Amino acid sequence: MPDWLLYTGGRRRHDGIDRLPPPPPWRAFDGGPLLPPPSGGSGNTHQATTYRPSDDAVQQVNAALYLRRPLLVTGPPGTGKSTLAYAVAHELGLGPVLHWPITSRTTLRDGLYQYDPLTRLYAARDGGAPASDEDIGRFIRLGPLGTALLPYARPRVLLVDEIDKSDIDLPNDLLTVFEKGEYEIPELARRADPSADVMTADGPGGRVTVTAGTVRCNAFPLVVMTSNGEREFPPAFLRRCVTVELRQPADEAELSAIVREHLGDLADRSDDLVRRFFERSASGTLATDQLLNAVYLCRHADADDREALADRIMRRLTGPMDDD
Ligand SMILES: Nc1ncnc2c1ncn2[C@@H]1O[C@H](COP(=O)(O)OP(=O)(O)OP(=O)(O)O)[C@@H](O)[C@H]1O
Ligand SMILES: [Mg+2]
Repeated sequence: MPDWLLYTGGRRRHDGIDRLPPPPPWRAFDGGPLLPPPSGGSGNTHQATTYRPSDDAVQQVNAALYLRRPLLVTGPPGTGKSTLAYAVAHELGLGPVLHWPITSRTTLRDGLYQYDPLTRLYAARDGGAPASDEDIGRFIRLGPLGTALLPYARPRVLLVDEIDKSDIDLPNDLLTVFEKGEYEIPELARRADPSADVMTADGPGGRVTVTAGTVRCNAFPLVVMTSNGEREFPPAFLRRCVTVELRQPADEAELSAIVREHLGDLADRSDDLVRRFFERSASGTLATDQLLNAVYLCRHADADDREALADRIMRRLTGPMDDD
């Protein structure tokens, strides 16, 4: 394994992130005061510890870490685009993945923070402190993007999941934030005292101090943006990303290794299903987890039902729909 690779895809946790060199000068950020790394695992432990990335994916993850650039991960359904984020967070001990699922209604502001003026109003009405000095931070919750850009000493992992489902403006809006590595919270910035302890996307209890109404990152997060290719991205967006395309496993040996990683001994005698999956995927899209489901189910089903059952589970997602 070449020495420069911090993330190796080896599924074993290590402190390789400590070897991450300073950023290129054009991607250096100076937010502070520094926050300690968040505690807790990446979330999704089984997926994170069973993931077998391609060499290309390993290399591009490292490129994104070194260059402090977002990683755009494309590929067909079920090729492990989302799981990659959890696998990196687990191996490098980067804490819980900040998950931001994108829909056509998602705005930049949703990812940055939410301010809840109504609850604030009710709190004041019900005998809370006067509006000028009450704790406004209780009504501001940073979103996954907003939390990832806090001045952590180590990069957080932000999964911007299915960015191709977004409204047309979101990729460009994101670009601006990723270029600057900072954002403002106007509701705080315009106050006489623009500092507050706000909530984060890390769940209850996670509160951090925002000063001068602005959040600026220190270690740029590892941003993993996934796309099923439902949309083309503008060149200005692409040139600021590191990109990687994930593919279906290249051969039966690779597929078998993935099945064994997930199912251990339950994967014994699954060669026929792997072969069948591989044959069927030649004429249409099949996702790896369909094979995992089929192998698991067939271990519990009667031998006679095995083939028919597997075919029902391994239906092609595109291409001919007949189950031959
Ligand atoms: N290379 C791999 N090694 C181990 N498991 C894998 C691999 N690729 C996919 N899987 C498994 O397949 C399942 C689907 O992965 P995941 O949800 O990350 O795919 P995806 O590309 O994000 O799919 P979608 O486009 O539908 O969101 C997961 O259970 C994952 O663990
Ligand atoms: Mg996904």
